[in-house]
Formats: sequence, structure tokens, C-alpha cells
Amino acid sequence: MRTQIVIVGGGPSGLLLGQLLHRKGIDTVVLERQSRAHVLGRIRAGVLEAGFVNLMREAGVAERMDREGFVHHGTILAHGEEQIRISFEDLIGRHVVVYGQTELTHDLYDARDAVGGKTVFNAEGVTIHDADSDAPYVTYSSDGTEHRIDCDYVAGCDGFHGISRQTIPAGIRKEYEQVYPFGWLGLLSETPPVSDEVLYSLSDRGFALCSMRNATLSRYYIQCALSDKVTDWSDDAFWAEFRRRLPRAVGDRLVTGPSIEKSIAPLRSFVCEPMRWGRLFLCGDAAHIVPPTGAKGLNTAASDIHYLYHALVQVFETGEIEGIDRYSEQALARIWKTQRFSWWMTKLLHRFPEQTEFDLRIQRAELAFLRDSRDAQTVLAQNYVGLPY
Ligand code: FAD
Ligand code: DHB
Repeated sequence: MRTQIVIVGGGPSGLLLGQLLHRKGIDTVVLERQSRAHVLGRIRAGVLEAGFVNLMREAGVAERMDREGFVHHGTILAHGEEQIRISFEDLIGRHVVVYGQTELTHDLYDARDAVGGKTVFNAEGVTIHDADSDAPYVTYSSDGTEHRIDCDYVAGCDGFHGISRQTIPAGIRKEYEQVYPFGWLGLLSETPPVSDEVLYSLSDRGFALCSMRNATLSRYYIQCALSDKVTDWSDDAFWAEFRRRLPRAVGDRLVTGPSIEKSIAPLRSFVCEPMRWGRLFLCGDAAHIVPPTGAKGLNTAASDIHYLYHALVQVFETGEIEGIDRYSEQALARIWKTQRFSWWMTKLLHRFPEQTEFDLRIQRAELAFLRDSRDAQTVLAQNYVGLPY
């Protein structure tokens, strides 16, 4: 088989790239290791930057997001009993949209089906060959048969545990990593959200986050020990701990109910450089991971897709390779700024095991500065709503 671009990974990065390229008449094949039901069953991100929303519109898949997504004009940072509202609207005249990654992935699969895009699910042993030559190809097996796809370029959109990044020789690749000494326990429940806006709360007992998917579906998180297992946390234990970490005025109006999903995610900052090797381009979690504080994981994937999409359209339409030559540098410049923001939000809002009294005072001073300074709030708003592409 032959195609113009093999996309390894059928998560949001790969699907969005495939859809954008399709509208420019560029042919892609998506190879996904899991089943479609597995990909759609993962509960992950929920807050979309303005840039991501625009890309979805450009890809022609924004109809349901525009109808069912919730525009948020601000967010709240709580510290003990105090609540600091950051008004994106007043500070920078912009907003974010709350629309679950699950829904967005659904929409992208539906759109790909509608245009007859080829997607191979349960693709095993995906291997990228000769990425540093002019004739790359990808092999995989499915239903016990070996397949080969020749192509012009390969987009590595296969997440942190994928094979694309490992295809870049170790001597060329440089990886930067910071692992945090805690995880997030997330819970989804069919209850009305306790806050109209996403609320980040730092208490003496650690971090908690109130988010939502719609008027009757809440998504909540608490900071937990890395050694914790989901089975250590009954729903009752989650709700009790969650409530204790919210300002009393918020906790008093919390409506609890049975969980419909519970999972633990470790927190990590990670960047791989470069993001291009020959005709292979890394996008999204395949190249970088942020801790989820600040809701940047999915959004950073979208900015990679924006740069790569334009570079590929340029090379197919004009033969000009300037865009693909600049891809890694351009994407990384924005990624490092987003890494900085996610790292800063994480340090600001969590209790760390080794924190000294001095560290706690600095954290308190940082929050007080944010409360009192419109400039500091503006910086937060610009980063949260999303830096320009
Ligand atoms: P992925 O979504 O990981 O998609 C990669 C795809 O590639 C997957 O479908 C995978 O099955 C497939 N794949 C992997 N290996 C292979 C292979 N060898 N061959 C073929 N296919 C392969 N971000 C936030 O902003 N907020 C959150 O609350 C949040 N929560 C998260 C919770 C968890 C548990 C995780 C893991 C991430 C979370 N993120 C969150 C991050 C966000 O979900 C990711 O940044 C986003 O999914 C990145 O999209 P992606 O398409 O690059 O990667
Ligand atoms: C959500 C996740 C985040 O990491 C975040 O910072 C805000 C919201 C969410 O799942 O809705």
C-alpha cells in the first residue's frame, strides 16, 4: 500500500492532523494499536484553548463542540478559605471552552469515517523504517497478516509510550524530564458541578480540582501519593478528602454520588528534542508531557499539529521544505513556554513531601501577589487561555 502520510496513533493529535490534511486533499493512513472503543473509553482532558477551538473549526469538526461545549470566561484559584478569580474576559478579552477529550475524539472519528479516511485499529508491532531516507515505510501486523505502507512522511502521534520517539537514534535524541512526587486521582460522577468555573484549590491537605463536562457531569481530582492504588480509594473516601480540601463555602454545596470512572495519573514534565528526524515528525504526548495543572497536555498537542499541518501543506502544494525544516524549532519554542507554565502552576498549588517552612511562605507570598496584582493575573490568563501559535 502507498499513502502520502502514515499517522502512527489514533488519539486526538493523529486524528486532528488527518482531518486537517484531508481537507487539503492529502492522503493519510492512521495506525492505532488499540480498539476504537478503548481509545474512546479514556477519560482525560477537558479544557480547550482558543487556538485548539479554532483548529477544530478549521478541520470542519467543531459543530457539536460549538453547540455543547461551555465557554468559560475565568477560573478560580482557592487557597484555604480565600478564592481568587482570574477573569480572562476582563484581563485579556478571551476565553476557554470546556469540552471533553472523549467527545472531541468521538467527533474526529466520526468525521474521518464520513470522508472514508483509512484507520487500522488493533495494529500490532508498528515499526517505522528508513525515516532518514527519501523513501520511508511503515510495517505492522493485523489479523495475523504483515503489512507494509510506503509513504512520503510519518507523523508520530502515538503518545508517551509509543514507538515513534524510540525510532530516533539515542545519540540524536535528548530527553529532559522531571517527575513529581505525587499523582492525581480523578473521579467522574453524574452530579451537578460544585463550581460554574474550573476551581483549583490548595489546602493544608494538598491539592484539589473541580472541573466538569456538562451541567450534570462533574470531573474532580485530588493530589494523592504515588503509591496509592485506585482500589485504595472508595467513593466515600474520595468525597470526604475532596471536600476537606475545598474552601468551606464550596464544600458545603458539594453534591456527591457514585463514581462512573476513577483513575490515577502520575505527574511528569518531559520534552524530547528534536521533534523531527528525517521524514519522521513527533507530535503531542509522543514528544512531550506536562503535569495536568493548567490543562495544557492536549492543548500543546494541538499547537504541534498546527505547525506540522502548515509545513506539510506547504511541501505538498509548493515543494518548499522551509516549514518542515523549521517544525521542530518552532514547536519546541512554544512547548518550553507551556512547560514553564505547567511546572509553575504545579509548584504553586501542590503540597510537596519535602516542602520546608520557607517553601510554604514563598508559596503563600506567590498566591498573595497573584491576588493583589492585575499584572500577575494577566500573565496567568495569557498562559491559561493559550499563547499564540
Ligand atoms: P494520546 O492521546 O496518548 O494518543 C496516542 C495514541 O497512540 C493512543 O490512542 C495509543 O493507543 C496509540 N499508540 C500508542 N502506541 C502505539 C503504537 N505503537 N502503534 C500505534 N498506536 C499507538 N491533559 C489535560 O490537559 N488534562 C487532563 O486532565 C489530562 N488527563 C490525563 C490523564 C491521563 C491518564 C493521561 C495519560 C493524559 C492526560 N492528559 C490530560 C493529557 C492529554 O490527555 C494528552 O496530552 C493527549 O491525550 C495527547 O494526545 P495525543 O494524541 O498526543 O496522545
Ligand atoms: C481538567 C483537567 C485539568 O488538568 C485541568 O487543569 C483542568 C480541567 C478536566 O479534566 O476537566
